[in-house]
Amino acid sequence: MTQTRLSSLTLDWSPDWTAIFGAERPIILEIGFGRGVFLAHLAKTHPDHHVIGVDISNRCLDTTERLIAREKLDNARVIYSTAETALAHLFEPESLSQVHVNFPDPWFKTRQAHRRLMRREVMDWIVNRMRPGATLHLATDIQEYAEMSAELLAETPHLDNLLPDAWVREMPGRVTTKYEATAIREGRTPYYFVRRRNTLPALDLPVKKELPMSHVVFYSPLTLEAMNAAFADHLQGQHHAGEVHLHLMEAFLGKNALLIETAISEPTIDQRLALLIIPRWHSAEPGGYTVQVSALGHPRITEGVHEAVRVLADRVIALHPEARILHHKLKN
Ligand SMILES: C[S@@+](CC[C@H](N)C(=O)[O-])C[C@H]1O[C@@H](n2cnc3c(N)ncnc32)[C@H](O)[C@@H]1O
Repeated sequence: MTQTRLSSLTLDWSPDWTAIFGAERPIILEIGFGRGVFLAHLAKTHPDHHVIGVDISNRCLDTTERLIAREKLDNARVIYSTAETALAHLFEPESLSQVHVNFPDPWFKTRQAHRRLMRREVMDWIVNRMRPGATLHLATDIQEYAEMSAELLAETPHLDNLLPDAWVREMPGRVTTKYEATAIREGRTPYYFVRRRNTLPALDLPVKKELPMSHVVFYSPLTLEAMNAAFADHLQGQHHAGEVHLHLMEAFLGKNALLIETAISEPTIDQRLALLIIPRWHSAEPGGYTVQVSALGHPRITEGVHEAVRVLADRVIALHPEARILHHKLKN
């Protein structure tokens, strides 16, 4: 059976896993499964569980999808998603019975630290998504990463250590991942962590749902051509509001719309999408326009997208003293 690739950009937030798998079973999550050997082993050894992997490498998804099909692992699926997006948008609180993280990328440079998986925000999501009794398994071959993870885990009272020490250097019976085999061959003995979720209440982190579509309707005497001409000096640029960072990057003038390429970065999702300024030809009042999100590329409507629509509308209105907002649908 050919299955379409699952992606956090197209799946419901949160998806009906029972409908996707055709059965209701506890869920095991592997973050960053790479070549999929460990994921396939999990699926084989846990036929009574759904095994879901998330990764951001299409090559890894290709390889692992082929492995799942070849080995007829009906209880395994992989999803194109960052760990952050999956944890926040795809899984309900207390829905995971195991979480595995094998050899995460270290992202040691300060400017890349926000990408590191073992950090407070991600740990809070993991803890919230684990059900009591669920286990978290982490492996790394980098001493600094192991020390940082041990510290983070020690500061997480919701997880009990199942090992005699913070980590162990051997895990008998474990299936070796590709990255692990390389590390061992090159003399870097891995550090293994196992923790169990206890019953301490976690932070309240419900599934982050998609917001309703946003738009702003405004009046301006300017033409689309004039707005396009003003783009580089007055509309283009970055904007930061709380944890939302956005960049109005480039404008493209079409026959019936000005399309603005926009990058939006939020804690749980990064998106590149198009905003549109469209004349309201059918409107009684000439000079009416709508700012809205283009359906191109399947954008997810988040707080950041609402902020982007608002910022673009504000900037366009500031271009002319007679311009004004007529009505809008925006969060807050
Ligand atoms: C060093 S490799 C380890 C792969 C595999 N677990 C192994 O042990 O061989 C890290 C993996 O994590 C994936 N990855 C990196 N950042 C990620 C993120 N934010 N969310 C999900 N996967 C990620 C990479 O694409 C890669 O497959």
